[in-house]
Amino acid sequence: MTFGQMPPANGFLEKKDFKNEYFYEMEVGFSEEISLFQLNNFTPPKNIHTEKYPFYTSSSKFMENHFRDYSNWMFKNYLKNNSKLIEIGSNDGTLLKNFQKTDIDFLGFEPSSKIAELANQQKIKTINQFFDKESALELTKYKKNTDVICAANVIAHIPDLKDLIHGIDNLLSSTGVFIFEEPYLGSMFSQVSYDQIYDEHIYLFSLSSIKKLFNLFDFDLIDALPQITHGGSIRYVIARKNKFPIKKNVSKLIDNEKEKNLDNLNSCLEFKKNCEGSKSKILNDLKKIKNDGKKICGYAATAKSSTILNYCKIGTDLIDYITDTTKEKIGKYSPGMHIPIVSVDRFKDNPPDVAYLFAWNHRKEIFKKEKNFSLNGGKWFSHVKLD
Ligand code: TMP
Repeated sequence: MTFGQMPPANGFLEKKDFKNEYFYEMEVGFSEEISLFQLNNFTPPKNIHTEKYPFYTSSSKFMENHFRDYSNWMFKNYLKNNSKLIEIGSNDGTLLKNFQKTDIDFLGFEPSSKIAELANQQKIKTINQFFDKESALELTKYKKNTDVICAANVIAHIPDLKDLIHGIDNLLSSTGVFIFEEPYLGSMFSQVSYDQIYDEHIYLFSLSSIKKLFNLFDFDLIDALPQITHGGSIRYVIARKNKFPIKKNVSKLIDNEKEKNLDNLNSCLEFKKNCEGSKSKILNDLKKIKNDGKKICGYAATAKSSTILNYCKIGTDLIDYITDTTKEKIGKYSPGMHIPIVSVDRFKDNPPDVAYLFAWNHRKEIFKKEKNFSLNGGKWFSHVKLD
């Protein structure tokens, strides 16, 4: 399936750069062999995670709390005194900072220099590098004696999974585990949240794909825990083959995936139809609101919003501006459709009639923060159900 011409999802830009903007054809495919939903072409991560990469995990209070719980869970289940812990894609250290008061020997890998620097300034030990087989080999102190390698919303960004798994193999102790969380293919299909698909998300994983993939390298999927983050994610736990019993919920969730055809192409064909339906509904609804003389803005210039705006071709004819809290985005324009990104003051001082909530995965936090908008008659809009 193709979504048409797309710019990089985090490619917020200035007016002077409009004429040089880069576009690619965003097309998704499905490998029936390992049940893997993936992009057919993508931007190399080194062109994305530069010093300009505009994303800070700590921009969401909810995610800060989630990472505190995730850390506690790892501590309770898989770490012991003096354990070695590595986080792949540690961003500003939101997860690792929870280990600062423990004796865990932790280390983060973060490719964006500015973000890694910020973490190091807060004494969260961070290497400014991509995690791969080569960089893992340099960590002689951690070789085959790391108890936990963890990640969140990062593994789907790594094109060469074989290289990644070799890096992990080189560092994990014999009973070490690799734990990672990623948005779930099943949640994307059921909510028709195709905005999860963009250049940085090369894969949308399911248990079926993760089990088949890691089995190829002599690893087992030993546990899988559904999470509410990013509109529905799964926390996967991977261990060397035959080292741990496989928890019952793995086969239960895999059976459920088989029932829903998540392990084969049929679910993708259904999803394609649903995406096309969603596009015409969004456009009809927004045009109707606009024709009624109402003002529409976007709330949160997420990477995800880039897929919606460019696939549906929504520009300033429908949405006046998008408000966001990230200082690197404010004053710039959204990739592709060039909607101005403004600070949240504009939204508060001069509220629109309708706000398209692009950060629908943070809705609880945002609805609470913006309760006056609703109390004063403002309406939230989204292509996913907002409950
Ligand atoms: P994410 O969906 O990839 O986590 O991106 C979140 C984006 O939403 C990020 O640009 C910050 C922005 N944001 C706001 O502008 N206001 C908020 O209250 C929250 C939670 C996020």
